[in-house]
Amino acid sequence: MRNATWKAASRAALALTGAGALAAGMAMVLVAPAAAGTTLGASAAEKGRYFGAAVAAYKLSDSAYTTILNREFNSVTPENEMKIDATEPQQGQFSYGQADQIVNHARSRGMSVRGHTLAWHSQQPGWMQNMSGSALRQAMLNHVTQVATHFRGQVVAWDVVNEAFADGSSGARRDSNLQRTGNDWIEAAFRAARAADSGAKLCYNDYNTDNWSHAKTQAVYAMVRDFKQRGVPIDCVGFQSHFNSGSPYPSNYRTTLSSFAALGVDVQITELDIEGASAATYRSVVEDCLAVARCNGVTVWGIRDSDSWRASQTPLLFTSGGAKKPAYDAVLAALNNGTTPTDPPTTPPPTTPPPGPGGCTAAVAVNQWTGGFVATVKVTAGSSAITSWTVTLTLPLGSTVTNAWNANRSGDTGTTNWTNVAYNGRVGAGQSTEFGFQANGTAGGLTPTCAAG
Ligand code: XIL
Repeated sequence: MRNATWKAASRAALALTGAGALAAGMAMVLVAPAAAGTTLGASAAEKGRYFGAAVAAYKLSDSAYTTILNREFNSVTPENEMKIDATEPQQGQFSYGQADQIVNHARSRGMSVRGHTLAWHSQQPGWMQNMSGSALRQAMLNHVTQVATHFRGQVVAWDVVNEAFADGSSGARRDSNLQRTGNDWIEAAFRAARAADSGAKLCYNDYNTDNWSHAKTQAVYAMVRDFKQRGVPIDCVGFQSHFNSGSPYPSNYRTTLSSFAALGVDVQITELDIEGASAATYRSVVEDCLAVARCNGVTVWGIRDSDSWRASQTPLLFTSGGAKKPAYDAVLAALNNGTTPTDPPTTPPPTTPPPGPGGCTAAVAVNQWTGGFVATVKVTAGSSAITSWTVTLTLPLGSTVTNAWNANRSGDTGTTNWTNVAYNGRVGAGQSTEFGFQANGTAGGLTPTCAAG
């Protein structure tokens, strides 16, 4: 008995040693970073970004697929395996096998993982589709908590909530069983995700939010601004960016990305595919991301055209046979020749701001009502970038600040001083950032002054 146990154990140990040595040997080959400029991932990394792909667990046994994945990408998003129907097929019974497979494949090769998605109206398991009201709210929050806890430390960013706004001109929330649990379902999901995994960036993700002039884009923007002002934990916004003839790449895409970034969130292109895979359009998308410092990376929604959820549109960077398409060359070239960021960087802000010239100006807009007002102060850098700022504002007698956002303050009455917070001190030449405060009393004519650090 003892002998048999020992033999079994030693065989297992031998097998493990062999596998371990093999894995270690392979890892050395696979993890060795590709020369900058030769693969999507390495070139994106040179620009402080990632280049990712949506990955399906069942394809990890296809060596043509994994050859491209392992060579080109340094981020993955499970295409379906982390969705609610996959991770909680029966209420209270969690199933992580396929998601874990993708996470392990990625992390053992030094790729990061985007989690997709914790709360969504679609791909709900049957039990959830049939729920409503407070029972559904509770079940959703439990799902967010359980799944975010399971993947804590392994997922760098979560699409906490996916596709919660309606298409078209209404700017309204999308009707769904989750929406019918109350308008605060989105912020409740974000708070639960933060409590479960304080290390992951928490994103709101949607499609048809690429065109700055569209009502849906503006509605999501207003929600994110409101979340930032009220301290709801949101760190990033995902732009799916499924482009096709009905929903084309808009010329104001960069404005959209930089406008969201100016709210103090990161932006990520999360599910990129382009009908017909125009090289010029792929190139523009990547250039737009590189032009916005808080654009962390780009994920394409599949590897080869045959992997696409819209395969007939041939929207990806590799042919079904695995060959690089012209769009691939355009993306690689864009990554290697990226433009200079013009908006504030994501992290970390400099601890000791470099000295140097560079002034700023401040302008205030007031929304006054009887007995109180909200002031929005816009800080604009002069002809050179600034790394910190102080705005001085004198309030009229009888006016007291009650709360503020996006700035530190000293003084609630009379002469008040406002300084940047960690994420909005750096303002590019000619660029702006905003902070605001609420006060009681009457604003009168406020004349802010600005000094740059
Ligand atoms: C798609 C997957 O690619 C398909 O395999 C699945 O059948 C349906 O979902 N927006 C999203 C993604 O957020 O999760 C969707 O993925 C595509 C649209």
